[in-house]
Amino acid sequence: MRQTTAVLLDHRPQGTAVAEALTLGTIDLPELTPGTALVRNQYMSVDPSTRGRMDPGEKQYTTNFEIGGPLDGSAIGVVEESLSDLLPVGATVRHRMGWREYAVVSDSAATICDLDKAPAASWLASMGQTGFTAYAGLLPVGRIQPGETVFVTGAGGAVGSMAGQFARLMGAGRVIGSAGGPEKCAWLREECGFDHVIDYRNENVRQALGDAAPDGIDLFFDNVGGWQMVDAFHNMKIHGRISMCGAVSNFGSQDQPSLAELIEIVLRRVTISGFIVRDFEDLRPEFEARVSGWLASGELVDRATIFEGIENAGAGLEGLLNGANLGKALIRLSE
Ligand SMILES: NC(=O)c1ccc[n+]([C@@H]2O[C@H](COP(=O)([O-])OP(=O)(O)OC[C@H]3O[C@@H](n4cnc5c(N)ncnc54)[C@H](OP(=O)(O)O)[C@@H]3O)[C@@H](O)[C@H]2O)c1
Repeated sequence: MRQTTAVLLDHRPQGTAVAEALTLGTIDLPELTPGTALVRNQYMSVDPSTRGRMDPGEKQYTTNFEIGGPLDGSAIGVVEESLSDLLPVGATVRHRMGWREYAVVSDSAATICDLDKAPAASWLASMGQTGFTAYAGLLPVGRIQPGETVFVTGAGGAVGSMAGQFARLMGAGRVIGSAGGPEKCAWLREECGFDHVIDYRNENVRQALGDAAPDGIDLFFDNVGGWQMVDAFHNMKIHGRISMCGAVSNFGSQDQPSLAELIEIVLRRVTISGFIVRDFEDLRPEFEARVSGWLASGELVDRATIFEGIENAGAGLEGLLNGANLGKALIRLSE
């Protein structure tokens, strides 16, 4: 029986200290059967949802990891052996069996990625679930309109850096982001074209938002929740909209605002829409066509922070939760 090295959940972590809760181990790979292929993984995606799935409480949109079992998640790799006409040897495929070096994938759960449209890493970033989340949160959920003022939290991260750039490319009048530290803020302003970036670690976000958007925010794309979310509530336009994508601050901070803050939503008649990206699959072709066009024209910056080797997978996830990544966080597993 073939085996592979995988990242296993040793025990359930507390807060953002996740690396010590993971261990490397060897798992058996299933035999190839018709409709499956053996894939050598090249990159795997590091996502905040991976941290959520380590908790005991079941999430509504996915399953949780078992103690002693392997993690999984988005990955891209090359088909080395195949019993599927849909997954020929040599093809680059994206699938959900990451957090291991080799995987046996079913052709019903893998997609061939055209490397002429985007490099492999981008198929997990701007052209992957990350970019698609930003796209869905702005268009069908956020109903972005040309000329609007948009505010994006977690703007230096994977989804946030795409959301701010997509908003600009979709014709937003003013794009404001928030991120931790001067380096991320400078990158967003100088390379990604954000009009204004607030360093939430060093500035009063509520006041800085008031200065940057004196007429208020039309569309707020929230990745972090917590106090930054409340600071945005106080700066929403009347009848503004909030696209609620995630709350990554929940994992690290005990200091969370009270529900009483929601009165700001009432006073401003704001619409809050939570969403899960998988509900928008019908938009995938249009999304890939637009984003590959923006990549080809050089209008979109797609940057990844790459951690080398499966042994650094835990450090990569911990780094993401502590803000060490610029853009998309990836683990490189092989060439
Ligand atoms: N709804 C959906 O379908 C869907 C799909 C994918 C992802 N998501 C959500 O989208 C959000 C962003 O995901 P991502 O993949 O782009 O992750 P990411 O932004 O690449 O990484 C998380 C970022 O959040 C920031 N952060 C961490 N702790 C924070 C805190 N306490 N306060 C403020 N900022 C903090 C960090 O940047 P700083 O240096 O700025 O702190 C870090 O880089 C997450 O909430 C995720 O769960 C939702």
